Amino acid sequence: MGRNTFQTLLADGLLPFHRLLDFGCGSLRNGYWLIRFLDAGNYFGIEPVEKCVRAGLKHLVGPEIESHKKPRFLFNSDNDMGAFNVPFDYVVARSILSHTCPGMLHRMLETFSSSSPQGTLFASYWRHDIPDMPQWWQVRSKRNRLIMRYRDMAVDTSKMRERQISAVGDDLPDDDMRFIQIITYSLGRMQEIAATHGLSVQEDWTFHPINQQIWLKFKKQGA
Ligand SMILES: C[S@@+](CC[C@H](N)C(=O)[O-])C[C@H]1O[C@@H](n2cnc3c(N)ncnc32)[C@H](O)[C@@H]1O
Repeated sequence: MGRNTFQTLLADGLLPFHRLLDFGCGSLRNGYWLIRFLDAGNYFGIEPVEKCVRAGLKHLVGPEIESHKKPRFLFNSDNDMGAFNVPFDYVVARSILSHTCPGMLHRMLETFSSSSPQGTLFASYWRHDIPDMPQWWQVRSKRNRLIMRYRDMAVDTSKMRERQISAVGDDLPDDDMRFIQIITYSLGRMQEIAATHGLSVQEDWTFHPINQQIWLKFKKQGA
């Protein structure tokens, strides 16, 4: 998964002197590759769960690379992509929009747009109308919209609905700030939300999606 993130960014033009924010960096699946590649001081991470980052630093990075590359972290859930006061060349949010209700998404895009006006944001999402792939077992909402596909997994969908862990972003209001287990959007809804922050967005299919998550590439409109 991390290698796919790295390849996608490389194919778009990522260079060692670029500054990059890994938003929701978790246990450094992406950081494993990016911290090594980027020049010292150019990798930034935001993650609410500090122990995930600590585990990643310990097991995937190690003290020598950490002290040489000097990755920087903030541990919060403020949804503020401008929190470092650094204009980023790249922001990456892998497996974040797949959990992000519209209010949280608005806040992320608003702060990206204002803090990194020359930057590119890559964020992966589940599109609810992705063409069917028969080997994937599908979960559909009450309105028959596709929520998720699983391969080789037995999933009790009735329990999922009871716990309301899945939703279609198109049906939720703009002030819903939740981070939930599964959320899908249409590309049109993504474009609508992006446009309110002066951003354009398109899918990037340079590499085949992993886990059905398609990369979205956001930039300032006209850039
Ligand atoms: C599915 S994991 C993906 C982690 C990482 N991007 C990766 O690909 O390995 C989602 C991550 O988002 C983090 N997260 C949850 N709420 C967040 C918020 N408000 N701001 C930033 N990250 C958040 C979670 O703690 C978790 O580490």
